[in-house]
Amino acid sequence: MCGIIGYTGRSRKVGEILLEGLKRLEYRGYDSAGIAIIRDNSMVTEKTPGKIAKLEERLKDMDISGSLGIAHTRWATHGEPNRINAHPHYDSKMRIALVHNGIIENYQTLKKSLLAEGHEFRSETDTEILVHLIEKFYNGKNLEDAVQKALKVVEGTYGIIVISESEPDKLVGARNGSPVVVGIGDDEYFIASDVAAILKHTKQVIYLEDQQMVVATPGHFMTMTVENEYVEHKIQEIDWDLDMIEKGGFEHFMLKEIFEQPETIRNAMRGRLINDTGKAKLGGLDLTDEQLREIRRIVILGCGTSWHAGLLGEYMIEETARIPVEVEYASEFRYRNPIMEDGTLVFAISQSGETVDTLAALREAKSKGAQAMGICNVVGSTIARESEAGIYIHAGPEIGVASTKAFTSQITVLSLLALALGRMRDISLAEGQQMIKALRALPDQVTHILESDEKIRVIAEEYHHHNNFLYLGRGANYPVALEGALKLKEISYVHAEGYPAAEMKHGPIALIDDNMPVVIIAPRDAAYQKIVGNINEVKARKGKIIAITSEGNDELIKMADHVIFVPKTLDFLYPILSVIPLQLLAYHIAVMRGCHVDQPRNLAKSVTVE
Ligand code: G6P
Repeated sequence: MCGIIGYTGRSRKVGEILLEGLKRLEYRGYDSAGIAIIRDNSMVTEKTPGKIAKLEERLKDMDISGSLGIAHTRWATHGEPNRINAHPHYDSKMRIALVHNGIIENYQTLKKSLLAEGHEFRSETDTEILVHLIEKFYNGKNLEDAVQKALKVVEGTYGIIVISESEPDKLVGARNGSPVVVGIGDDEYFIASDVAAILKHTKQVIYLEDQQMVVATPGHFMTMTVENEYVEHKIQEIDWDLDMIEKGGFEHFMLKEIFEQPETIRNAMRGRLINDTGKAKLGGLDLTDEQLREIRRIVILGCGTSWHAGLLGEYMIEETARIPVEVEYASEFRYRNPIMEDGTLVFAISQSGETVDTLAALREAKSKGAQAMGICNVVGSTIARESEAGIYIHAGPEIGVASTKAFTSQITVLSLLALALGRMRDISLAEGQQMIKALRALPDQVTHILESDEKIRVIAEEYHHHNNFLYLGRGANYPVALEGALKLKEISYVHAEGYPAAEMKHGPIALIDDNMPVVIIAPRDAAYQKIVGNINEVKARKGKIIAITSEGNDELIKMADHVIFVPKTLDFLYPILSVIPLQLLAYHIAVMRGCHVDQPRNLAKSVTVE
């Protein structure tokens, strides 16, 4: 979704700072970009549809030095992604510039009255009304006051940054529903939609809450509410490093992140497994053993890949702890009237911690009196802050739009949760210790699977021209089939369907012919014999079978066209292993089809609008 960055300070290199920040925001997904700088008391601005490289090209012969400016990557919601609709947007006299992430819901009504008052609009965006409103209330001396007045009349979500020629060193930012982080440097300040954009310059940040603003000039800043009440700010230290958001020799972020998984899975477990007692300790949950024992039902909420992780959580927790679990799309849950009886514990899973539907669902659950926890990656994100407690997955920054390492870390922490809850109920000490042993083996097992990368690349070579794929799995491997199909769709634009293998007979079997690749996740688990039956059904119709199975299971070599082996583990942990070859398969197919792997068309890393 849209990315915003702004800078004020003593450096004269604002253009460089903003362009570098925009590049760090590219991963969020965008279709146009723009910049506005105040230099020698006048505005220098440029914007364009397409990539940041194109914006840079347009700026090549312009002087973009200066010490105040804002920039934006736009993911179109209102109005097509063209030059006029790109941000920044300006007031009638082009003296005020504004960038915005979010949606102004009452923009049509406001636009009508602004038009009647003589304001001329250039774009079709909802955003433009904001800057005209600011113009209306601005006396040329107190930009924050005009911003406050404007924000009082708008309905919707925003993360904004505003500058004006009349106050050529002042940066004003505000937040409601869209993330805004303020970076504190040496007499210089940054405002951005996420820390990746400013990490090169500072690790000291403040996260604005909804309805809060920041006003910064070189050497001084203050935070307040949009109602102009002073807000005591809390400076936090980011523990991510710059090299964590760079490619480190890999061709794409996605590949780097796939290969980081041995380490990220290890990090998700670090300090949380206790051999002696066969238990898992999840301190962040902040619940006593007594309270954990009182849980009668769990509801898991998420979107996209995080929803798939939730489905796996359902298998793991029900199987291990015998607690009923329901998994819901956050976008559906938020508009239902969900029943939240006593003893219900809600988990909102979100890598970014900013997905607007997941956040709204979490709020809905809380408002119904449920105890609501977050399972997030980004520390300090909105969902992490609004949850009563939760579990961080510690996967480090995930830049590739298609989630990989965050997914395996999410399911790793869910397996720890299953173990923690299970040991208070059905699971014996010996079983708990066996689970811990299997969990501890996972990172090395993932390293071993990654050695099959070349083999998987060769399989991709054979199938990358196909336009339809079917993914099948049973039990805990059904969500893995969904996730494998989603990875392929997201980054290769190939139609792929994930299905429970037994359901194939009720529809998808009609699609199978000698041109249909079918990826079947068939480790030697409790469902194995059943899925062999499904493999035969595909084979009888001449479908091309790519099977994922456990090492030593040579039986499938005769039946399938290709077999990719994963090490043996406990049944409920197979998904953590079996998804890795599917990530690699999708990656290689996308590269061979010439797709933009890290920033697939139309997608956004973090969906901050409904
Ligand atoms: C977007 C991303 C997906 C992600 C989903 C949920 O659609 O492209 O990769 O799974 O949002 O994101 P979250 O940050 O809430 O896990």
